[in-house]
Amino acid sequence: MIDCCIFDLDGVVVDTARYHYLAWAALARELGFEFTPVQGEATKGVSRMASLEIVLRAGGLEGRFSAAERERLAAEKNARYLRFVSQMTPAEVLPGVAAFLHRGVRTVLGSASKNAGTILDRCGLRPLFDAVVDGNEVSRAKPDPEVFLKGAAAVDAAPSVCVVFEDAAAGIEAASRAGMRSVGVGGGASLSAATMRLETFAGFTFEQLAMKIDRD
Ligand code: BG6
Ligand code: MG
Repeated sequence: MIDCCIFDLDGVVVDTARYHYLAWAALARELGFEFTPVQGEATKGVSRMASLEIVLRAGGLEGRFSAAERERLAAEKNARYLRFVSQMTPAEVLPGVAAFLHRGVRTVLGSASKNAGTILDRCGLRPLFDAVVDGNEVSRAKPDPEVFLKGAAAVDAAPSVCVVFEDAAAGIEAASRAGMRSVGVGGGASLSAATMRLETFAGFTFEQLAMKIDRD
């Protein structure tokens, strides 16, 4: 039985993974190196400061900046990211997601982002979620299961009836560690541990999810 769907935000509900990448790539260029889309994959689902470490490592700059300087670099990236986010409209909700969220089953947002609230408001999505748990409320980043366990608890759902929708390997692992089934969304190569894969929500129904997940 499925009684609760928990959604990652970036790359599942909206295509903000692209904005995160563009903002990191711009920071890397300022620091004097190219940060490629392939390298960018590793920042998916990972907290802002951990993502910065990945970027700095890609440029061979790990250990080069003090904690205060790293905070400043992360703030600079975030300011650039927010310039993209501040232009977002409901048209940027990925195809089929809003229709899927309108189903009767409980829906929870479980995101590592501290900007989740802004994005939900810009895209008119807040009313579609029964609970929101984001990067401001968790202390342990994915692949730790904290964000999903908190989300399930917020709607009083047992992990065994929850399904997590994720586009990042760290999120699929977090779901598994939470005792939840998972759907790997999009074409990412690193999602093979998911219970099932889904290319797009367009045309995807809750009945199809239940059939696929409950059969496995
Ligand atoms: C995750 C993204 O949802 O949120 C990561 O997949 C991002 O790429 C993380 O680093 C933190 O986001 P923010 O908005 O708090 O910087
Ligand atoms: Mg994501």
